[in-house]
Amino acid sequence: MPSRIPLPYSSKVLKLFKNPKNLGRMDDATVQALAGSPACGDMIAIYLKIEDEKIKKATFESYGCAANIAAASELTEMMKGKSIKDAWKITWKDVSDDLGGLPAVKFHCGILAVGALRRAIRKYYKGKKEHPDWLPKEITQEEKLALEEEKLTEILSKRGTPP
Ligand code: FES
Repeated sequence: MPSRIPLPYSSKVLKLFKNPKNLGRMDDATVQALAGSPACGDMIAIYLKIEDEKIKKATFESYGCAANIAAASELTEMMKGKSIKDAWKITWKDVSDDLGGLPAVKFHCGILAVGALRRAIRKYYKGKKEHPDWLPKEITQEEKLALEEEKLTEILSKRGTPP
């Protein structure tokens, strides 16, 4: 007998999960970032095509759940055509609201998508002479919760090690 209770996903989450927008690798991306969630061990890659400090195109690859796929789909739609500065301001709550809400146990899936975007933006400015004044020097909570691949692998390998 099935024991799992279906999560209360909104119809938009379900629609985007089945038919995500902007899914796939971008070979000519200006910048890309890979981030993983310590909460579940899933990963996401965000690809950005940037021209004149604007996001012309954004795509993603998700190795996560329905909520993460829907959040990344919505996020990549929201950031298209925005200045990098405005894309930086998108929060996981904005994404969740646009999706009609995420179940509480799935908040981290939206945070992972936004964290990956912020990591991509930070990577874009890394090594550039000018550090924009709107870009915080310290990493934000979303970035902290969307770990770089190496850090995630380290955590996951420790989880698998008996005490
Ligand atoms: Fe891992 Fe949603 S449960 S991204």
